[in-house]
Amino acid sequence: MMQGKTILLGVTGGIAAYKAAALCSRLTQAGANVHVIMTEAATKFITPLTLQTLSRNAVHVDTFDERDPSVVSHIDLADHADFVVIAPATANAIAKLAGGFGDDMLSTTLLAATCPILIAPAMNVHMYEHPAVVRNMELLASRGVMFVEPGTGQLACGYVAKGRLAEPEDIVAAVEQWFGRGGLLKGKKLLVTAGGTIERLDPVRYLTNDSSGKMGFAIAEAASLMGAEVTLVAGRVSVKPPAGVRLIEAPSAAEMLEAVTALFPEADLTVKAAAVADYRPLAVSEHKMKKSGDKLILELERTTDILQTLGEMKQPHQLLVGFAAETENLEQYAMDKLWRKNCDLVAVNPVNRPGAGFNGDTNLLFIYDSNGLVEELPLLSKREAARRLLDIAVERLKDVGRDRA
Ligand code: CTP
Repeated sequence: MMQGKTILLGVTGGIAAYKAAALCSRLTQAGANVHVIMTEAATKFITPLTLQTLSRNAVHVDTFDERDPSVVSHIDLADHADFVVIAPATANAIAKLAGGFGDDMLSTTLLAATCPILIAPAMNVHMYEHPAVVRNMELLASRGVMFVEPGTGQLACGYVAKGRLAEPEDIVAAVEQWFGRGGLLKGKKLLVTAGGTIERLDPVRYLTNDSSGKMGFAIAEAASLMGAEVTLVAGRVSVKPPAGVRLIEAPSAAEMLEAVTALFPEADLTVKAAAVADYRPLAVSEHKMKKSGDKLILELERTTDILQTLGEMKQPHQLLVGFAAETENLEQYAMDKLWRKNCDLVAVNPVNRPGAGFNGDTNLLFIYDSNGLVEELPLLSKREAARRLLDIAVERLKDVGRDRA
């Protein structure tokens, strides 16, 4: 998919710059014509010669080092690029692009580039979570810049946290996804729910579940790489939501119902990956509950089924995808949910099988439509499972409305 495409690889000055060598090599092997631009700071971590050898193209560092008098390098590079990847992207590089600065070869080229831009941030976790960095990423996302989330793990600064550059294969997969699937959801509005809900008992206690939000986040990230305008409604989550999507926090089932029903009429595709509580405490104590007696019996009431509500609101042009966590009778329960909640697709997690379900980075998805099993996906990363689910949804979106109109 990248064969013959011209990719600009921007490398900025963080320790993860050494991984740019593997990334450059993979992009070149995939058939792309890679032109590397490094910041001065990046050259302190990895030499231009390394990237020149791997890309087989001259590496650009200095804006004024004009080697070919027939062109202005930063404009020429920008004009010929089909795609830009910045990996690793430091907080400074992100800020410069958000602010429109052009004070070195990379930033001036980025200002001149009209092609899609993908950013793979890498930095210390506190820097990544700094409000200024968050705001800059949101600003860039609102301009259509795409992001590959950093991973969680050992950071060079000693922290074990989020901020590690995504693995080169994940970055390549994101680029491939854009070339292969880039325009597939262009102009489409996607609504995704993710995470568990919290149902309060009193100001300090609540009922919740093990959902991490990872599956819904992977769907949101994949859809935004496919060109969709994504709104993510998140309950209680244990990981940071992906950059590049509009985030609405709705911690309880009632708040999620309100947010989702307000947004649903605008959505072309809605994926309900959230693990919404089926019951909530009947009474919420205003003050911290004091212990008394040996037993405490909680009275719970049913929450409104959001998916079912959306199924009732659904218009012919809209596609609705539900999730179901099951341990047995997968097909029977999936089909029951599909009909009862008026879904177009139901993705079942067989949560009792190794590698599937809550909290992990992998998942098993069995996907059903009104005719039964559509596809049984093998054990995949949640990112890849999200892409495959969206591929199926995209096919259905083409027909949706036509059948039912
Ligand atoms: N769901 C919802 N609102 C609820 C409960 C669930 O929208 N109050 C949605 C979830 O987002 C998910 C699907 O419904 O898409 C899961 O269906 P559900 O019937 O809740 O699954 P289980 O909890 O596994 O149901 P059951 O107890 O019937 O097995």
